[in-house]
Amino acid sequence: MDKIIIDGGQRLEGEVTISGAKNAALPIMAATLLAPGVFHLGNVPSLADVRTMGHVLRVLGAAVEHHDHSMTIDTTNARYHEAPYELVKTMRASVCVLGPTLARLGRARVSLPGGCAWGPRPVDFHIRAMKELGARVEIEHGYIVASTEGLRGTTMHFDTSSVGATENAMMAATLADGATVIENAAREPEIGALAEFLRAMGADVRGDGTGTVVVEGGHELHPADVEIIPDRIETGTFMVAIAMTGGDVLIRGAKLDHATAVAMKLRETGAQVSEEDGGLRVRGPVWPRAVNVTTAPYPGFPTDMQAQFMALMSIADGSSVITETIYADRFSHVPELKRLGAQIGLDRNIAVITGVRKLSGAKVMATDLRASAALILAGLVAEGETEVSRVYHIDRGYEAIEKKLAALGARITRLKQ
Ligand code: UD1
Repeated sequence: MDKIIIDGGQRLEGEVTISGAKNAALPIMAATLLAPGVFHLGNVPSLADVRTMGHVLRVLGAAVEHHDHSMTIDTTNARYHEAPYELVKTMRASVCVLGPTLARLGRARVSLPGGCAWGPRPVDFHIRAMKELGARVEIEHGYIVASTEGLRGTTMHFDTSSVGATENAMMAATLADGATVIENAAREPEIGALAEFLRAMGADVRGDGTGTVVVEGGHELHPADVEIIPDRIETGTFMVAIAMTGGDVLIRGAKLDHATAVAMKLRETGAQVSEEDGGLRVRGPVWPRAVNVTTAPYPGFPTDMQAQFMALMSIADGSSVITETIYADRFSHVPELKRLGAQIGLDRNIAVITGVRKLSGAKVMATDLRASAALILAGLVAEGETEVSRVYHIDRGYEAIEKKLAALGARITRLKQ
């Protein structure tokens, strides 16, 4: 298992280019199952999760080739309907093959994903959405087993906005008979990216980004080509890294309108965030001010940026309160940040952080993707050496993060083991 070693104290300067969004690439890859033929995807990030989704598609009969950032998916022979436990357990997002497989083949058998590093993450909304569209769904031997003679359009309402369930419902609804209205749909940019792709495939999808998505089903779908949108969480992670180190960096390819909540919070800390030709420029403050953050569905502050922002608050001037409303237990970074000298009190889903002037390097362990990112950011400003182990988590969602940070002046290396 690789380790990342950071010798802290360097200011980040220069330019960095943002990769394609993991969370947009995964459902778009799944959506190719809706129509037979050859699809070309560009700006696909080179990440472990993308490779896992490639394996899932291959198991379903598709041919997948991924070179550099281009991917070709041939779904002509995608006629198998089972996504096995061995793959789904490694990546929860595999569950987004449920909707397209069921809609195209009339049946799907997809393993339940199981728990996560930060607690249970149910898939009941996904299952309910398929039932609302007229499918029979049972849980058998740890698998979601769904079948239908033909899906029917319907009106469905999610109690909580869910990115994955909205995506599954949208994809299945494209091949259903009649119109489907998805109320309280998620509004994340990745939903818009999927909707755009489905439209390019010939589907009639409207309302993405508004909370009510309408899919007029039954149109014949065909292959399409797509460029994956830039990753707003990778963008946010670099924005925070620059703010923490008092740096000055142009983040190429970053879109401000997808990172507004993070940008606004960073400005409150004293950082400057401005749009420039080709991206976003971030200039860090001398000493960031403490600010409070509450995570919320898009366009609110993303839960996927909570851990990184806590790293920033660990060295801020004053005390801040971070409230996690999406995943109440998503705090595995807290004990590790404390090992680096952060002062954090945790009461259920509320963390109170008292900023310290200096963190001190130590050995820490990553326990999930965004927690790993937070530890790397903390290492960038800690005195001495920080060693982050179990970095396979970071490889799930950040492309070459150590190379990108090193190019900005950080002293960071990967120890291959
Ligand atoms: C997606 C993102 C993930 C991000 C999360 C929240 C992908 C591949 N992953 O995950 O990075 O952290 O959105 O922004 O896009 N819920 C249920 N039942 C369900 C589904 C969800 O109760 O069937 C709850 C969840 O526990 C959570 C909330 O709904 O509290 C939102 O989760 P959801 O938006 O579904 O997250 P994912 O799509 O899994």
